[in-house]
Formats: sequence, C-alpha cells, structure tokens
Amino acid sequence: MNFNLNENKPVVVLLGAGSMGTAIVRRIAAGKTVLLGDLSEEKLETVATELRYSGYDVATHQVDASAKESLRAFAKKAASLGDVMYFIDTAGASPSQASPEHIIKLDLIGTSYAIDEFAEVMAKGGAGLIVSSMAGYMPSPLTSETEAEIANTPTDQLASLSCLSAEAVPNSGVAYVVSKKANHLRVQTAAATSWGDRGARINTISPGIIVTPLAYDEFNSQGNSYQDMISASASKRVGTSDEIAEVGAFLLGEHATFITGTDLLVDGGVIASLRSGKMGIDIH
Ligand SMILES: NC(=O)c1ccc[n+]([C@@H]2O[C@H](COP(=O)([O-])OP(=O)(O)OC[C@H]3O[C@@H](n4cnc5c(N)ncnc54)[C@H](O)[C@@H]3O)[C@@H](O)[C@H]2O)c1
Repeated sequence: MNFNLNENKPVVVLLGAGSMGTAIVRRIAAGKTVLLGDLSEEKLETVATELRYSGYDVATHQVDASAKESLRAFAKKAASLGDVMYFIDTAGASPSQASPEHIIKLDLIGTSYAIDEFAEVMAKGGAGLIVSSMAGYMPSPLTSETEAEIANTPTDQLASLSCLSAEAVPNSGVAYVVSKKANHLRVQTAAATSWGDRGARINTISPGIIVTPLAYDEFNSQGNSYQDMISASASKRVGTSDEIAEVGAFLLGEHATFITGTDLLVDGGVIASLRSGKMGIDIH
C-alpha cells in the first residue's frame, strides 16, 4: 500500500539514528522522506521499523560517520531520494565510550566531513543541525589562534594540526571538549561559505545532560560529576530528547530562517553555573 501519494517529497536526513536524532525526526518528518544513517545495521532496522509503524516513510543506509568516502556515499544516497531539505548529525561518541583518537576522528573530523559532503547536496532553502554539546563551552586548551586554525583548515588537513595531536589532547574528556567546540567553529565557517553559498542554513545545538543510552554510559563512569552539575544548575534536573527535538525543530524550521552559523545552548543552566563560578569543573 502507498501511504503517501504526493510527489517530490522533501528529504530529511539523520546521521546517527540515536535518541535525540530520532526525536527530532519524529518532530519534523511527517509527510517527508526520511533517510536514516548509522554504523549499526541493527540500530537502523530497529529505529526504521519503529518509525514506519508510526507512519513515517523511511529509507536506511549504513554509514561510518568517521569516514569521508562513506559520508560521500551517504550524501549521494540522500540526493537520489529527492530535495535534501534537512540534515541532522547526531553521530558521536562520548568520553567514556571511546579513546581520544576516536573522539577526534568521529566527533570532530567526521562531523567536518559530513558538513562538507552535505554542503554539496543540500537544496536551496535547506537547513542543517549538528548536535554538539555543552562541553563545547567548558574550559579547553584551545587559544584564539588554535580556534581559528580549527575553523579554517580544510578537513583533509585537520588531523595534522598540532593542537589536535595526542600530546595536545591527552585524554577523552579533553578530546570531547575540543571536538564539541570545533563543531561550533566548523558550522560557523560553513554557514558563511559552503552552506551559505548554496542558499542553505546550518547551526549547532549544544545539549546539556540529556538522558539517553549515551548519557547512561557517562553516569556509570564519571563518579559524582553529573550529579554535581545537576545540583548546581538552575533547572536542577536532566533534560529529555523531546526537549532537544522541540528546539531542533525550531532551528530547522520556517521561524528560524534568519538564524545561521550559530549555536544554541540547551543545558538547564549548567554552563551559567560554571561561568558564574558557582561550580568548578576539571576536564584534565
Ligand atoms: N546524551 C547527552 O547527554 C548528550 C549531551 C550533549 C551532547 N550529546 C551528543 O549528542 C549526540 C547524540 O547523542 P545521543 O545521546 O542521542 O546518543 P545515542 O547513543 O542515542 O546516538 C548516537 C548514535 O550515533 C551512532 N554512531 C556512533 N558512531 C557512529 C559512526 N561511526 N557512524 C555512524 N553512526 C555512529 C550510534 O550508533 C548511535 O545511534 C552525540 O554527538 C553526543 O555527543 C549528548
């Protein structure tokens, strides 16, 4: 049975079929074509089945979000389905899940390749959303000079920057903070260049503690630091994927067409506590 007889349906692409990404798709993709990409075929099938049973039109594609050629093939697949109007990138690994090298390769360089590859296929008027993190606001070893290098170096050359070497990024916590800050910087540059030239917008969203399987890995490995952040925050609670979806839908949608190249911090007040000196944090 054909559930949707309309032609030329806009395409919504989700890279990383996880909790927050799926919530954003549910919020924006009714009546559109969804392309899900993930490394895990099992995850793809599970999420695609749930979405299909909820009335969404879903295609899947296995992709490694840390590999340029794989991302290129994923972007081509997206373009083959119709006008790519929305690109959401939530593929990432957190500090307790991966080595510093892997976090730099996936969260920073892979995300940069994804931004580059989708700049080639976005439709005019389209919008992108990269899920960064409040970690991008935490103290980091980056200086204004190294931030400019990260913002402007071609993606193929990022791995050779000394500010991203094993000496400069000694552990997974630092790698995560640097990568998430880099997401803000790369998106800002893309909004002004490749994406802007194409007539498309791109922004980041920086969630605080959002309860997902990834966050559970952090709760289980980081001692009391998450509890301390919740206690010090004005909201005094964790967030949910649905709250991120609400903000993501705004940034991707028609009421945000004057917003590009920026980040929206959605953290319940954790960074405000940190910046005000109410709470200290040690990422080293
Ligand atoms: N949960 C939080 O508290 C939180 C807070 C701030 C930022 N974030 C960031 O949000 C993003 C999404 O996190 P989530 O909590 O929804 O996690 P999640 O684990 O539900 O989703 C991440 C998805 O990325 C996929 N993935 C991992 N490596 C991949 C690869 N190489 N190629 C393709 N797919 C890959 C995973 O299979 C998974 O489906 C991540 O970038 C994370 O760093 C999470």
